[in-house]
Amino acid sequence: YVIGIDLGTGSVKALLVNQEGQVCGEVSKSYSLHHKQPGYSEQDPEDWYEQTINSLHELMQHSNVDPQDIEGISFSGQMHGLVLLDDDGQVLRPAILWNDTRTTQQCRRIMNTLGTKLIKISKNTALEGFTLPKILWVQEHEPEIYHRTSCFLTPKDYLRYRLTGHLHMDVTDAAGTLLLDVARKEWSKDICEAFGIDMKLCPSLVESLDYVGELLPEVTSRTHLSSDTKVFAGGADNACGAVGAGILSNGDALCSIGTSGVILSYDEGIKDLEGRLHFFNHSDPSSYYTMGVTLAAGYSLDWLKKTVAPEESYEHFMSEVSKVSAGSGGLLFTPYLVGERTPHADSMIRGSFIGLDGSHRREHLIRAVMEGITFSLNESLVMLHEMGTEVNRIVSIGGGAKSDVWLQMQADIFQAPVVKLSNEQGPAFGAAMLAAVGSGWFENLHACAERFVKYDRRFEPDPEIANTYQGLFGIYQSIYASTKGLS
Ligand code: XUL
Repeated sequence: YVIGIDLGTGSVKALLVNQEGQVCGEVSKSYSLHHKQPGYSEQDPEDWYEQTINSLHELMQHSNVDPQDIEGISFSGQMHGLVLLDDDGQVLRPAILWNDTRTTQQCRRIMNTLGTKLIKISKNTALEGFTLPKILWVQEHEPEIYHRTSCFLTPKDYLRYRLTGHLHMDVTDAAGTLLLDVARKEWSKDICEAFGIDMKLCPSLVESLDYVGELLPEVTSRTHLSSDTKVFAGGADNACGAVGAGILSNGDALCSIGTSGVILSYDEGIKDLEGRLHFFNHSDPSSYYTMGVTLAAGYSLDWLKKTVAPEESYEHFMSEVSKVSAGSGGLLFTPYLVGERTPHADSMIRGSFIGLDGSHRREHLIRAVMEGITFSLNESLVMLHEMGTEVNRIVSIGGGAKSDVWLQMQADIFQAPVVKLSNEQGPAFGAAMLAAVGSGWFENLHACAERFVKYDRRFEPDPEIANTYQGLFGIYQSIYASTKGLS
């Protein structure tokens, strides 16, 4: 067996997987997000650790598996979050997360200082969510904490440090810091120097599949895992989501709708996208992925549900949506509830309902929100096409893959075949695959995916509906400029 752990934004999930790729156990435990001020989003790293230990303990208790039979464990995690440690490895302040938007000033400073040089080295532009602007924010606003910092980590790398006692960052998460030379897979001296960051603060780099050590005695005694279980580095949640969905060849793309939404394509070689889309190292060694992000994807639907039907089950809430036809009776929604990343990189823009009619019912609002989220993701897909990326099919995971109506909508709006996975488990499954390959079960991730990744139904675009959506998409795209003045 192997275990895959996904350290998400709302919860941690631990999956037990056998050599056939079957999930034999699953435990998930949640923790809080703290919003001390508007735009702030923080978590207590101790909560990640405690809830991971609790999840592993429960997984072991319920599974009847001999701990000696668990060969490997690996990780996936929310990207970009900043964890600062002192000389004793103690956490210096709450983690500042990917969805925290306090760093607009620092992003400006980064672009004014380095501009195209930053994009050339890190392959990405400075955005509030990324790690470097958060480091600069602490430098500027909490200098006493900054001066006590001996190392920075991203969330799952901190978790792995607590489980093993070894400090590392894997390249897929390092790519999301803006401090990595993505092509060379090494920390960039130029970027560190430009912002007065001592390179000693950068943890040593490893690859997702690398073996990094064993579990600490405190961890084995609290979870009943064995000290022989090997720990492998793991990857960023988007890289692991891609691995778990078999996105391992050119032409494959992923649509993942969770709190945020992602369109991602596999890239065999290095690309220069001028920072228009994110470009990060993949967990499959020597490859990359291009990605566009909708900040409030599932978040937008949750917001609507909380606002109009807080007591209802999701099933009931969504049940009427199929009665509304494509286009939601002329109602359009832009999902900018917390700003937007791709293509606008604008943390101030806010969302809208446009085209409300007296005859619209609740289900029109729900469908319009689903369409708005999908239009936003389509903007990333269109950019991928513009950059010359060929997309043959899109594997859909997350909340957007739980509804056949939404899957068909994705095929119609994306104008591409959309496939769902059978028994999808998200990034935790990708993490388990990293542990499986690390443990030597397979020669590489491709061989592992052949055995582990199972596809279910395929949704083909309906040409007539795709045409209707094409027209609406043009109007959707024009809303941003005309509503910008509202923010
Ligand atoms: C990616 C991003 C989010 C988080 C969510 O750039 O910020 O998708 O990784 O966990």
